[in-house]
Amino acid sequence: MSGMPLLFEMPGQEPLASRLARVLPAERGRMEIRHFPDGETYVRVDSPCDGRDVVLAATLAQPDALALPLLFAVRGLRDRGARRIVLAAPYLAYMRQDVRFRPGEVVTSMVFADFLGALADGLVTVDPHLHRYHSLAELYRVPARVVHAAPAVASWIADHVTAPLLIGPDSESEQWVSDVAGLARAPHVVLSKTRRGDRDVEIEVPPLEPWSGRTPVLVDDIVSTAGTMIETVTHLRRARYPAPVCVGVHGLFAGDAYAALKRAGAGTIVTANTVPHPSNRIDLTEVLAGALRELLDPPPDDSASETVP
Ligand code: R5P
Repeated sequence: MSGMPLLFEMPGQEPLASRLARVLPAERGRMEIRHFPDGETYVRVDSPCDGRDVVLAATLAQPDALALPLLFAVRGLRDRGARRIVLAAPYLAYMRQDVRFRPGEVVTSMVFADFLGALADGLVTVDPHLHRYHSLAELYRVPARVVHAAPAVASWIADHVTAPLLIGPDSESEQWVSDVAGLARAPHVVLSKTRRGDRDVEIEVPPLEPWSGRTPVLVDDIVSTAGTMIETVTHLRRARYPAPVCVGVHGLFAGDAYAALKRAGAGTIVTANTVPHPSNRIDLTEVLAGALRELLDPPPDDSASETVP
């Protein structure tokens, strides 16, 4: 790496920033971001950047509230002389509107990618919701690295759950639930989901008798309203299965989603530390730091503009 990078963080991202700074390693930079009483944003970059690489910890779980402060922060970092600015955005928002389902809809995944691509010189994220897009390179014009939570999720399950049966909520989850299951050496099934609205999903659970005696472990990439998990947990509890362990990579938990999932009968609820939440148990700092190092200082033969390590 050409000199130690400077690491700044957006508000609320202190835990990720301090871990990343230790593991990368990076020197912490200081930046003040606050809101005026009328809601406008004040930004001041305290640390000079003077030709150095900058990592900006900015998970994108609240993208609308974050977008303008992020734009101002990046401008401030460039004004202070940042050479390159790489976003450490373990959760990448706006990936699910990946097609125009109805005439007139805006494909926000593309617009958001244009926004971030114009801001930063690179991006590192964890398991973006790639469904109709096959890779970030289809969307992002800056070099992007994707790191996978599957190995860390699998080892958490193997260490904490006896005789797990992994359950993916829908066909979209098949590929990565089967990866996690393979790594955890556990069987898995994939359910069928019909989404009727933002908070209205219907799940079909096939007979699970062949796996009786196992602990159900629901695994999903994103938990937003938790409707998908609540519906699945409700089916399983009605069928007298033990309280399912719920594992989400990105725990967004909109509104009272976490409490509602608990009330529905979930057992332990665990997420990765891509979005700060008390359920964070799966630490992805090492893999994120590895991807950041590769992006900042790629090996000489590395020609990829987006990569899956
Ligand atoms: C959807 O395709 C994702 O993989 C998740 O299943 C979904 O985002 C979960 O959303 P919610 O928690 O609102 O049901």
